[in-house]
Amino acid sequence: MEVLKIDGGKRLAGTVKVDGAKNAALPILAATTIVGGIHRISNVPELRDISTMMQILESLGCKTKREGDVVTVDSTDITSTQIPAELMMKMRSSIFLMGPLLARFGEVETFQPGGCAIGERKMDIHFSGLEDLGVQFVQSGDSIKGKSSRLIGTAIKLRFPSVGATENLMMAAATAEGMTTIENAAREPEIVDLQDFLNALGARISGAGTSTISVTGVNSLGAAEHRVIPDRIVAGTILCATVACGGSVDVLEARIDHIESLVKSLREMGAEIEAHANGIRVSMNQRPKAIGEIKTGPYPDFPTDLQSQVMVILSIASGDSSIKETIFESRYQHVEQLRLMGAEIAIEGEVAKIHGIDGLTGTKVASTDLRAGAALVIAGMVARGETTVENLNHIDRGYHRIEELFNELGASIRRES
Ligand code: EPU
Repeated sequence: MEVLKIDGGKRLAGTVKVDGAKNAALPILAATTIVGGIHRISNVPELRDISTMMQILESLGCKTKREGDVVTVDSTDITSTQIPAELMMKMRSSIFLMGPLLARFGEVETFQPGGCAIGERKMDIHFSGLEDLGVQFVQSGDSIKGKSSRLIGTAIKLRFPSVGATENLMMAAATAEGMTTIENAAREPEIVDLQDFLNALGARISGAGTSTISVTGVNSLGAAEHRVIPDRIVAGTILCATVACGGSVDVLEARIDHIESLVKSLREMGAEIEAHANGIRVSMNQRPKAIGEIKTGPYPDFPTDLQSQVMVILSIASGDSSIKETIFESRYQHVEQLRLMGAEIAIEGEVAKIHGIDGLTGTKVASTDLRAGAALVIAGMVARGETTVENLNHIDRGYHRIEELFNELGASIRRES
C-alpha cells in the first residue's frame, strides 16, 4: 500500500499547468461509441478513471490508444452492448455508455454501478428520462437491460439537475426522431464540452450551459476530434492549497469563469485572485478570514467537489464559518480525519460548523473518497510536523501524481510504499 508523507508548513510559489477535466473527458470518451470511426480526443488527463473508461471501451470492441495527452478511440467494430459488471463496480461513470449505445444500437445491458462513499447516488433520473425517449428497461438480479426499436424525441423535465443524467439524455437524444428538450438540465461546463463534442460529430444540440437543452435528432453522425476543457476542480484544489498554505501561484490554463463561486469565497477569506491571459494568479499573505456560510449546489453554485478542500482553509481561519452540503449526503467523511489533526468541526445534519484554530498538527489520516483525499493532502501541507495520508487509490482517480504537482510549488511530499 502506498502512502503520502507530507512535511507541512511550506508556503507555495511558482507556476503549474492544469490538465484536462476528468469529468468532461469521461462522458466524451463514452460518446465516441455513438458512431463508428476513429475519434481523436486531446488534453485527456492520465488518471485511473480514464484508464478504466478505456478498458470499458475495449471490452465493447473499440480499439483505444494513448499518446501523450491524446486518446484515440476506434469505435468502428463494437461487438458488445453489455458493460461488464466488474468495470461497472469499479467506476460509476460507466453509466455514460447507456446513452450512446442506445442511440447507436437501440440496446444496452448495464449493472448497478459501484457503491460510492459519498452518498446513495441513485439512477432514477437517468432511467426515467431514457424511458421518456422510448427505452424499455427490464431488471433481473443486478442486470438492467434497456431496449428501444426507435428513440423518439420528447420534452423531458428533470426532477433535479443531475449532471450525469443530463449527459446521458443528450447522447441518447442525438439520433432520436424529432426534437428533444431537457428542462431543469444541469449547467456545468462539462456539459457544454459534451455538447461541443457531439456537435462536432454532427449532432444538433443547443442550450448547454443553460437550464434548457434542445436536441434535434439527426440521421447520421461521423467521427471527430476534440480538445477537453481544463479541469476546474483540480484548478480549484490548487487555489485552495495556496490560500491554506500562503504564497503566490500561477495556475496555467485554469478558467476563472468556471470557478466563480469558489473565487468569490476565497477573496472573502483574504486571497488576491486575478485572471490573466494564460490562467489564474492566486496570492495569499495573511491568515484566512472566516466567512459566513458556503452552500454547495448545482453549477453555478459552489461545487460539492471543492467543499472538503475549502473546509481545510476554514479550519485554520480566524473565526467561525459554516458549510452546508446539499448534493451528497455522506460527503463529510474527511471531517473525522481533520479532527485527528486538531480541527474543531461539528456536524449538524447537512451543516458543518467550523471553529477556526491556530493550526493543524500532522498525524496519520486516511482518504475516504477522491476530493476528501485532496483535502487531506492540503491539510498535511498546512500542518505542523509530518502527515501520512493513506488510501491513495481514491486520490489517484482524479489527480495525476498529486505529490509532483505540489512539490513543483515548494511542498515537501513523498510517495512511499
Ligand atoms: N441523483 C439522483 N438520481 C439520479 C442521479 C442523481 O437522485 O438519477 C442525485 C445524486 O444522488 C446526488 C445528486 O443527484 O445526490 C447529484 O448527482 P449528479 O447526477 O449531478 O452527479 P453525477 O453525475 O453522479 C457528477 C460528477 C461528480 C460531481 C457531481 C456533482 C462526473 C463523472 N461526476 O456526478 O464528481 O460531484 O456531478 O457535481 O461527472 C468527483 O469528481 O469527485 C465527483 C464525484
